[in-house]
Amino acid sequence: MSSADSVRAAVAAVSDPELRRPIGDLDMVREISVEGSRAHVAIVLTIVGCPAAQRIESDVRAAAAAVPGVDDVEVEVGVMTPAERKALTEKLRDGRAPRQMPFGPDSLTRVILVSSGKGGVGKSTVTANLAVALAEQGLAVGLVDADVHGFSIPGLLGIAAGTQPTRIDDLMLPPVAHGVKTISIGMFLRDGEAVVAWRGPMLHRTVQQFLTDVFFGALDVLLIDMPPGTGDIAISIGQILPHAEVLVVTTPQAAASDVAIRSGLVARQTGQRVIGVVENMGPLTLPDGTVVDLFGSGGGTAVADALSETEEVPLLASIPLSPGLRAGGDAGVPIVLADPTDAAAAAIRDLARSLSRRGRGLSGRPLPMSLG
Ligand SMILES: Nc1ncnc2c1ncn2[C@@H]1O[C@H](COP(=O)(O)OP(=O)(O)OP(=O)(O)O)[C@@H](O)[C@H]1O
Ligand SMILES: [Mg+2]
Repeated sequence: MSSADSVRAAVAAVSDPELRRPIGDLDMVREISVEGSRAHVAIVLTIVGCPAAQRIESDVRAAAAAVPGVDDVEVEVGVMTPAERKALTEKLRDGRAPRQMPFGPDSLTRVILVSSGKGGVGKSTVTANLAVALAEQGLAVGLVDADVHGFSIPGLLGIAAGTQPTRIDDLMLPPVAHGVKTISIGMFLRDGEAVVAWRGPMLHRTVQQFLTDVFFGALDVLLIDMPPGTGDIAISIGQILPHAEVLVVTTPQAAASDVAIRSGLVARQTGQRVIGVVENMGPLTLPDGTVVDLFGSGGGTAVADALSETEEVPLLASIPLSPGLRAGGDAGVPIVLADPTDAAAAAIRDLARSLSRRGRGLSGRPLPMSLG
């Protein structure tokens, strides 16, 4: 290989942090020349001022500089023409029509809803941590915050206020947090703006847009953080994703488990499959051995048993009460990353492993990783 070819190969392999594909595949690499030990590299980006621009530029510089014999790198950054951008969005859609929902029954992506009957049982906290744990295992993970009125995912994942999806024409690129491609209504609201008045049709359109207009690319798993209960959004998602799998979250308390059973039954009516129960806020063992048993016990097993009448529904995890899990959520640093030794973090990582083991699409069949 000539040195220009080596530089081209190195630069082409740089990954676009938002599109998560090598910039060579995205047709972003232009002229490359090497004179002596000096490399000149021209790249084009999708839009001016794209948030990923600086990162791509520095990664390109580093990649070129790492080629033996190159001491000095000049990077020229341009912008795609509308025609080039159109070609790129078509390539990214991979033959799908612009408004086609990519998570239909033929999709290789596993879609898992995290739902509950009662509010405040820890759905969002568990979903955010589970998403990060799955991404850490090397899976391509997306997360849709379907709780439009009570969104909390951006905060839990530490996505800075004001972070918006990047737009390439009519494609929206979800921000990536701790390896998870994430979308939430919170990214579209101005400070203090509320969606309290939104009713069924608006809510339906919002979740539909999250699932169709947001470019997640090839995902292994798409997690959906559901609002509590079985309201408009649950019904809409039941219509849009009738083949989705459902994780039912409950606390150990009988009152929570009764409603959790109902939410599982409602999901089943739309055709969705309840794949397991997660018990959260279970007994906490203090360093001196004392057990803090705030919500009692037995709720998870009760829900699993009640839902197992037609098809076996296992209790997949029991997550203890954990001050660290709560604090990690408040700080936007999921505990599965911040303190893997925490008992709740360990339980969530086990849950991630058991999901990928028992997975549809996740084992024994080709993952939708190769693109282009
Ligand atoms: N295992 C746990 N230990 C300690 N605190 C927890 C645990 N799980 C969740 N929490 C805390 O409980 C509160 C509710 O959690 P979260 O918002 O995740 O629940 P939710 O089910 O998504 O609520 P909503 O129904 O409002 O969407 C949060 O303050 C969270 O930090
Ligand atoms: Mg929530």
